[in-house]
Amino acid sequence: MPEVSLGQVVRWLEDLYEIGGGEGANRVGFTDAESRAHERVAIWMSGCGLQTTRDTAGNLYGRRPCAEPQAPEIWIGSHLDTVPNGGRYDGALGVVGALAAVAGLEEDVPAAATVVAFRDEEGARFGRGFFGSRAVTGRLVQEDLEQRDANGERLADVLDELGFRLQVDCSWLVERPGAYLELHIEQGPVLADRDSPIGIVTAFVGLIELQIEFVGYAAHAGTTPMNARRDAGLAAAAFQLAAAATAEHMGDAVVTTGSVVLEPAASNVVPARARLTVDARAANNDRLLSLEQGLRAAARTAAEQFRCDMTIAKTLQVDALPTHPMVVEALRTVAPAAPVLPSGAGHDAQVLAAAGVPTGMLFVRSLNGGASHTPVEATHPDDIDLSIQVVRGAIMHLASELLATRAG
Ligand code: HGY
Ligand code: MN
Ligand code: MN
Repeated sequence: MPEVSLGQVVRWLEDLYEIGGGEGANRVGFTDAESRAHERVAIWMSGCGLQTTRDTAGNLYGRRPCAEPQAPEIWIGSHLDTVPNGGRYDGALGVVGALAAVAGLEEDVPAAATVVAFRDEEGARFGRGFFGSRAVTGRLVQEDLEQRDANGERLADVLDELGFRLQVDCSWLVERPGAYLELHIEQGPVLADRDSPIGIVTAFVGLIELQIEFVGYAAHAGTTPMNARRDAGLAAAAFQLAAAATAEHMGDAVVTTGSVVLEPAASNVVPARARLTVDARAANNDRLLSLEQGLRAAARTAAEQFRCDMTIAKTLQVDALPTHPMVVEALRTVAPAAPVLPSGAGHDAQVLAAAGVPTGMLFVRSLNGGASHTPVEATHPDDIDLSIQVVRGAIMHLASELLATRAG
């Protein structure tokens, strides 16, 4: 297999970065830009001697030929979609880094290594997120396919137009792997503060997404007294402040109301309707439940205060989980000095972990204070180089471990 140089990896990242145009990386999931990224990576995979396939959700796989028929498959990958105006490395590094790591394996290594590019991890167009990993592990529900974007387009129709005939029936779309390893930028300042280029992930944060709707009554902005209004916009604002206070009070939780849509959205009409999307995270599932209860109470109070009706739906839950000792050990063996740290960001890895696949992650140091989901996201090429070598070493350890387990 042709070796992939660090220069090639940097050029691949640059190629992907340029696909969507505009400021920063713009490859929102289930847009042409994401599809073009998948097409390009498929060509690079073939160029590296990998056999490419896609599943019915559009996830892309590049399988390394392996002479050992008993070898359980190891998946190494991430996502190619980005948030709008995102960074160069979030997701993309995990795919092209995996490709470089696998391409550099010696021919006689008995590793059934498969590079995976998941679709729509961020959920920037249709909400929810982790689409590809939830799809392949059989964790989607029909309602996920009924999601509509800001223009009213249905995800199921977009999939259909792309030629993906996805059935939602709780089963895996392809054969499940023996292990999953994801390389990702840290997206935080911990590794830089510790002066360490890489770190081994110990646990995944738990997260939920809530969709809240306040319904009041549209009214004239000049003639309706304040005490006669049912202003859904004010209920939304009151909820946002109360939600932030709830998370702050807990200390170990975070809450983000990333989207607020008002209707009819005219300067001289009291808003009749407010739709909010709320992302809430905590380090363990008990704390996540407390946070959710606090947010539900905050929404009820805000609705009462402004005489609005309110509905609340939980559209996503990904549990907090530890990473798997087998994968952690493989990484530790190759990088014994690497510090360990939990992940505050969500990753496809935790969906695989929740589906019972032994899963681990390697983080690479983020610069610029750990900035991510912005164009200023930065990571040094030397750190990328090291991370690829560590991933390659870990694949070799995992391959022998999985073969030994199977033989035993
Ligand atoms: O939101 C997250 O943590 C991830 O970047 N999708
Ligand atoms: Mn991200
Ligand atoms: Mn990511």
